[in-house]
Amino acid sequence: MPFAEVIEHDIVIAGSGIAGLRAAVEIKRRYGDKLDVGIVSKIHIMRSHSISAEGGTAAVLYPEEGDSYALHAWDTIKGSDFLADQDAVWIFVKLMPEEIRLLEHWGLPWSRRPDGRIATRAFGGHSFKRTVFAADKTGFYEMHTLYNKLLQYDGWERYDEWYITNVVVEDGEFRGLYAVNLRDGNLYLFKAKAAILALGGAGRLYNFATYAHTVTGDGWGIAYRAGIPLKDPEFFQFHPTGIIPSGILITEGARGEGGYLINNKGERFMLRSDCAPTKAELAPRDIVSRCIIREILEGRGFKDEASGLEYVLLDLRHLGEEKINDRLPAVREIAIRYAGIDPVEEPIPVRPVAHYTMGGIRTDSYYRVLDREGKWIKGLFAAGEVAAASIHGANRLGSNSTAECLTSGRIVGILAGEYASKVPEARAPERERSIREEEWVWSLVKRETGEPTYTIRSELRNTMGTYFYVIRDGAGMEAGLAKIVELRKRFWSNAYVEDKSSIYNTDLVMALETANMLDAALLSAKAALDRKESRGSHYRIDYPKRDDGQWLKHTLALRYGDNDVNLLYEPVRITTWKPVERKY
Ligand code: FUM
Repeated sequence: MPFAEVIEHDIVIAGSGIAGLRAAVEIKRRYGDKLDVGIVSKIHIMRSHSISAEGGTAAVLYPEEGDSYALHAWDTIKGSDFLADQDAVWIFVKLMPEEIRLLEHWGLPWSRRPDGRIATRAFGGHSFKRTVFAADKTGFYEMHTLYNKLLQYDGWERYDEWYITNVVVEDGEFRGLYAVNLRDGNLYLFKAKAAILALGGAGRLYNFATYAHTVTGDGWGIAYRAGIPLKDPEFFQFHPTGIIPSGILITEGARGEGGYLINNKGERFMLRSDCAPTKAELAPRDIVSRCIIREILEGRGFKDEASGLEYVLLDLRHLGEEKINDRLPAVREIAIRYAGIDPVEEPIPVRPVAHYTMGGIRTDSYYRVLDREGKWIKGLFAAGEVAAASIHGANRLGSNSTAECLTSGRIVGILAGEYASKVPEARAPERERSIREEEWVWSLVKRETGEPTYTIRSELRNTMGTYFYVIRDGAGMEAGLAKIVELRKRFWSNAYVEDKSSIYNTDLVMALETANMLDAALLSAKAALDRKESRGSHYRIDYPKRDDGQWLKHTLALRYGDNDVNLLYEPVRITTWKPVERKY
């Protein structure tokens, strides 16, 4: 086995989605050739899951029409069920408008109002039409614009199809990232003065998910193994409208443009007094998803016999063909291709689908990664979905995600650049650490027989979908956690990689991803079971009320031994608004 070779950059960025690319652009804009950057991605740089973001990006563009930073901040905090850190939210809303204009200057073809100004649409939980969009392919255009901008600069290198295995933290400092180059099968150490983790969420812990199959909680796994706390990992977002049977996203933009949800009696159930009589389909996602599931549980849904999935309908017919083609072309294409339904003629079958992880790597409001004592791990930053700053708290509002990828990317670009400019040289771990990493990575390949990792992965997804979906309860989560523990035992004692080759070993990648998924599931399940209240996306029928007295606090979940999790708690930073009852 070759010993890990060293690749050195001033700054290494793990992940090439909107947050990673935005960070790279910011470093280059500010520091030009003074700092060189490596971007490491397990897939092709432009295949990041950010590319599939659809409905838009929230920003206060039109204060003269009644919007304001305070309104955006308030909507975000109320939407979060008051678990957001309010100082971080303020930073976010104030940075956003400039991000939209920068992208405009860099060539992004935003959809337009008739007078030529940038168009905005309604989105759930926002009390103003502030979601900026490019039809329903916003992520695609944002990625391409950022990538094109980055191409203007020298002094950066991409490492496509390199799989990051672990981050090294020693003496409170970042000391390197290990990655396997899939082309030659060798392990490398990325040595850098600073690193930005922009590795996305963990949504493929679920079968029915809007996520690309690549979103396997890699950032969560490497943080867990390095002893870095994950903040609020119990809060998974279920987007109300995943198409049946695949789960591909039908954007909230469809409801923003006027689409309705209807049950098998033809009723717009969201208007009922126990759902959201004022906001209806444009209530926040946690509320809409719960109302859909209740319709289904009370027998007012439909059933797809082939998949066994139950659903309600999203009706866009009244919007008309012209509007659907102009504003929602991808929705039409997805519905025709993947459900055989033309939304101009027929409603679309949908149900809540895993879409976003509100929790993630613990950071401060400027996305510096914090250790268990709350101290910055020098040189280490996190951005985008993998980071929990935390502006989304217990429930994210739609269109605040691509927005946070942009603002957090920008912030960490500035701060990592500043830090790397001051630090005289990067430090690497001891040789023994690299030897241990080699052993860890190749241990599964060395095993001659055992269980293939895909059966473990598949059982894990069924477990998460059964016990940690929209509606939860203690007994179910206990059963789910026991299964996760069993799967972890099976994985580490018996899983093996059938492909023994070193070149492009996707079987090994699947195994390493499964290890990360098992870590992420353990963190999420433990935290969910411990939180004995309902807040945002975490709804328990055995504790159906929010309990601010006991639970207005963040969970910090971190590694305890090799197979367990320690749960600590920290206060929410409430700077402006005290919690009130959420009504929509
Ligand atoms: O529905 C959507 O287009 C999703 C947007 C988001 O999650 O922010």
